[in-house]
Amino acid sequence: MKQKLIFTNIVGPAIDDLVESLGAPQAVVVADTNTAHFVLPILQNDSKAVASAKVITIKSGDANKNLESLTDLWKQLSDYEATRSTVVINLGGGVVSDMGGFAAATFKRGMRCINVPTTVLAAVDASVGGKTGINFAGYKNQIGTFTEPDAAVISSIFFNTLPPQEIMSGYAEMLKHALLENQEILDKLLNYNPVYPLLDTAGLLPLIEYSIGVKARIVEADLTEKGIRKALNLGHTAGHAFESIAYRRRSPIAHGYAVAWGLVVALVMSHLELGFPSDTLHSFASYVRKNYGVFDITCDDYPAIVEAMRHDKKNVTADNITFTLLEAVGKPQIDCVVSPEQIGAALDIYRDLMGL
Ligand code: GLY
Repeated sequence: MKQKLIFTNIVGPAIDDLVESLGAPQAVVVADTNTAHFVLPILQNDSKAVASAKVITIKSGDANKNLESLTDLWKQLSDYEATRSTVVINLGGGVVSDMGGFAAATFKRGMRCINVPTTVLAAVDASVGGKTGINFAGYKNQIGTFTEPDAAVISSIFFNTLPPQEIMSGYAEMLKHALLENQEILDKLLNYNPVYPLLDTAGLLPLIEYSIGVKARIVEADLTEKGIRKALNLGHTAGHAFESIAYRRRSPIAHGYAVAWGLVVALVMSHLELGFPSDTLHSFASYVRKNYGVFDITCDDYPAIVEAMRHDKKNVTADNITFTLLEAVGKPQIDCVVSPEQIGAALDIYRDLMGL
């Protein structure tokens, strides 16, 4: 993988070293309204490059990951006379790295770029692997590129002030990475809660490092998601469908929570179709039930869930709904075609496991 990964809690000097090694004459920080207020001032004290950088602030929230905000970003880069050697430093969560990364990938056909994730979710997912983009015409991430940034600086110092729900959201993607690779790490994650009884960002950091390693190995093998990178969609087929049902109920759910519930559905389906071990399924489901609660569905929701899966372009090949499934921990199978009846059967068991 081209992207350098730096794990440190001394963030400012790490950014300065990177900017120097990239030979970048100037830096632009892309922050959102939250990180510009709470995180940027800390880094301005600690990093010469950040202190002297132009700051572009975008509105926080996925709804603002759109063409209008992107146009404003490009315009500000143009007014600043940014060049290909200018480094864009994305300071924030996934919206910032997706949109700042897309601007950096396209302005003057490509600038330097460093991601500094400020959420666990962005650290273990969006900041690594080069997916950039914006939502368009009502679809998420409809326009974008695979462009690896030069580096990501991963630190747990920003996580101390995150709400517990935000940390658990990122933790769901960590559970996914462990399922894709390693039973021992999975057991460790299932015997730990990073926010209970106390927030434990120090304990979390080595697990984050491991988790990013899983993603980096997969991206290295398949940057453009023609094959094994699809394994990273584990849990997302049902997860995205739950998100869209929740959105329609006007009671949106956090992405990571949807992934946690979607992982339970994927493991049930894996058990039914590929013999995934039932003891691991049960311990995983009870962890999710205890720490994420349940996403409430009845059998009346099944048609809408199947329809939402059909509309999610990532899961559909030649009109078939596909899941990433697991034969066992560390043994993913991509592009598994499933019927609405099989989905219904898996959702029945999901409801049993969740006590619904
Ligand atoms: N979020 C999944 C991926 O980066 O491929």
